[in-house]
Amino acid sequence: MPISPRVLVTGGAGFIGSSVVRHLLEDPQVEVLNFDALTYAANLQSLQSCEANPRYRFQRGNICNPEALREVFSSFRPSHVLHLAAESHVDRSLHGPQAFIETNVMGTGILLQEARDYFQNLPTAEQESFRFLHVSTDEVFGSLGAEGFFQPDTPYDPSSPYSASKAASDHLVRAWGRSFGLPVLVSNCSNNYGPCQFPEKLIPLMITNAFEGKKLPVYGKGENIRDWLYVEDHARALWTIARHGQVGKTYLIGGEEEHTNLDVVQTICSILDAIAPHPDISNRCDLIEFVTDRPGHDFRYAIDSSATREELGWKPAESFETGLKKTIRWYLDNPDWLESVRSGAYRQWMEENYAWR
Ligand SMILES: NC(=O)c1ccc[n+]([C@@H]2O[C@H](COP(=O)([O-])OP(=O)(O)OC[C@H]3O[C@@H](n4cnc5c(N)ncnc54)[C@H](O)[C@@H]3O)[C@@H](O)[C@H]2O)c1
Repeated sequence: MPISPRVLVTGGAGFIGSSVVRHLLEDPQVEVLNFDALTYAANLQSLQSCEANPRYRFQRGNICNPEALREVFSSFRPSHVLHLAAESHVDRSLHGPQAFIETNVMGTGILLQEARDYFQNLPTAEQESFRFLHVSTDEVFGSLGAEGFFQPDTPYDPSSPYSASKAASDHLVRAWGRSFGLPVLVSNCSNNYGPCQFPEKLIPLMITNAFEGKKLPVYGKGENIRDWLYVEDHARALWTIARHGQVGKTYLIGGEEEHTNLDVVQTICSILDAIAPHPDISNRCDLIEFVTDRPGHDFRYAIDSSATREELGWKPAESFETGLKKTIRWYLDNPDWLESVRSGAYRQWMEENYAWR
């Protein structure tokens, strides 16, 4: 491990990536380069607290562009790559799967090839400490019934174009480890929630709609179950795995917080009713509306993260209740962030601030 880690974060302007960047910069030894294409899901306002930090830099770029990656590897000379750049929304993958194949599969392949070329030309001491962590999802394992948990050796069985593209990228990463000796690690994590999540995802969508007294659309009967993890706990897990995990290994990360979608929405309603009562709606659960289920909607995800917890000493700091309260409070306290995402003003702000880079 070099004295000062230099971490290349792909997708660092997204929901989890921005939390990872903020977490990394808390360590005064760490330098971060955030490489992000700034798709619709990115928001550099999530990183305003990092802008003035001399150990942070941002570069706009696409992981499908090998020349841009080559330039970043040779000028920044990372000791670690944390690969989060991806198309990440299941519903969007049903309407337009091509972008998922391009970024998640092709882009990961191109990034691996550039990382390999860079790695092979490093001095031996730097090769020994170099790590490539691929950040993936538990959705690659497909659906569980009422019982059981995903394990690191659970066979892949993805249902959506999103999860299939992530599964493909996981296989590519392991292949670059086995075939070319690239020191790779893979993490598969359960559903994340927390500040700065684009409001197309379940929890921020429900918080913002419920706050404003709008309908709360819930797929099917709301019986689908997910294991929820607060995003800052995920960020901490990723940096722990990148530094202390065993090369070639897969780490499962989860919150041990299984909840049905209906339970999640009802909990959001009751917290909001208590801390921000609506003038005309006494019980926000009345806003819940069941809508036609998503095709191929996996029934249950639940992950056994005990091996990661035991080996690396990581565990979540937040329970679902404390994390959800923090998240709701963050959305109520940051109407500007939300408004900018919705109005497209943040896109203009990014163009004005970053077009020259
Ligand atoms: N959100 C979850 O619950 C969850 C759970 C487990 C794993 N993951 C994985 O974690 C990673 C981050 O997820 P997220 O929720 O923060 O996603 P996100 O959609 O919020 O952010 C993705 C980021 O990647 C960038 N990006 C997209 N395509 C790019 C490209 N071609 N080149 C460079 N940058 C590009 C976007 O601009 C954006 O900033 C993804 O790989 C996702 O599969 C997410």
